[in-house]
Amino acid sequence: MNNVRDIIESELNKVSLFKSKEKLYPEYLPSYLPHREKELKSLASIFKSLLLNPGALSHRVFIVGGIGTGKTVTARIFGKEFTQLAKKRGLNVGYVHINCHRDRTLFEVISELVRQLGLPVPQRGLSSRELLNYTLEMLEDNDLYAIVTLDEFDYFINIAGNDAVYFLARIYDEFPEKVKRLNFIFVSKSLTALSTLDPTTESYLMKNLIMFSPYKSYELFDILKSRAEEAVFEEAVSDDVLKYIADTVGIDKGGPGNARAALEILLISCEIAEKEGCMRVLLDHVRQACSIVEPNSVILHDILPYLSLHELLVLRSIVLTLKRSDEPYVNTSVVEDMYRKLCEDYNIEPRKHTKFYEYIVNLKKLGIIMTSTSLKGRRGRSTYISISIAPLNVIDAKIDELLGIKLRYEGSS
Ligand SMILES: Nc1ncnc2c1ncn2[C@@H]1O[C@H](COP(=O)(O)OP(=O)(O)O)[C@@H](O)[C@H]1O
Ligand SMILES: [Mg+2]
Repeated sequence: MNNVRDIIESELNKVSLFKSKEKLYPEYLPSYLPHREKELKSLASIFKSLLLNPGALSHRVFIVGGIGTGKTVTARIFGKEFTQLAKKRGLNVGYVHINCHRDRTLFEVISELVRQLGLPVPQRGLSSRELLNYTLEMLEDNDLYAIVTLDEFDYFINIAGNDAVYFLARIYDEFPEKVKRLNFIFVSKSLTALSTLDPTTESYLMKNLIMFSPYKSYELFDILKSRAEEAVFEEAVSDDVLKYIADTVGIDKGGPGNARAALEILLISCEIAEKEGCMRVLLDHVRQACSIVEPNSVILHDILPYLSLHELLVLRSIVLTLKRSDEPYVNTSVVEDMYRKLCEDYNIEPRKHTKFYEYIVNLKKLGIIMTSTSLKGRRGRSTYISISIAPLNVIDAKIDELLGIKLRYEGSS
């Protein structure tokens, strides 16, 4: 039998397929962005006049495209490169990336803007308007410009509403004589949310529209190839394997055209191969990976990490109640009882009923749960909840992981 040291040592000596695994993670900013040249060019041509004639106009762009079409990564890379090029020309431009799944109200968005620009946070409690005026003044004092990306902006529109969007988008209407230092990139999955805005705000936002199409198979192949070159050893993944993944996901082959799904399949295929002690990824590893990667798993990775502690607790209560009942829908009042019990287990003060209900509404707006008010054969007007984005166990495992992090680092705030 192996002794402990042998076990550990053999694990340490095991050669890996990965040169640098984190380069396949969704949050990594890659060095190349194949097939987004046109979109990068459009962004550059819109923001060009910020360099040529700084302060004359507040620029805005609306990026629209489905999940995994590279909206976030393109905005981030554009911001990073543009600010560096501006600096070379003596112009101080900051790039700010705000995810509206986390920062959902006007006040949260502006506070995050202040934080990411590295401005001193005012001690006195300010209103959104005061905080924004403060930000504009600080930009002026520091001769600083900013490009602000509001990612998942459709969610901000739904939650914060027309007036908040109007306020943000038309900041300079009130100060026509001011140097225009704030510029915006709005990122959204679709244009539907815009139709809830009043028509002037809608057309104002849509002035510069850049559409991101789902990726075709040959495009995904190039993306996978460039990311694989950064992340894994050359011999480990053949072009055949990459082509197989690209064909599974490519929009022209009936897939979703989602680069995130393609990269996740590649990552999991490599992990499976490695676990089997195989130094090359085989097609069968890819098949296994495809059966694991849920098309909806993006929701788990994209949205769940931004939920607050109590939203996670409410979601877990829904999952547990659904598991127990073995029915497709469960009554909200049963979920609320479960939520109180869970809070007790975690030794956390539960929130009041109205707040609990607000969480349910938010989870619904985020597309995590479905609700229905009247069910056939049942009397009364209760709300029923269901989940279909992923298997309950998968969701629960993710919640568990996130709760662990939240409870450790954030206390019960
Ligand atoms: N053209 C591309 N080249 C390299 N990686 C890409 C490209 N497009 C998307 N990706 C990667 O795919 C994943 C999903 O992209 P992301 O920008 O998050 O999509 P979206 O914001 O449109 O949902 C990220 O890991 C991103 O780095
Ligand atoms: Mg995104």
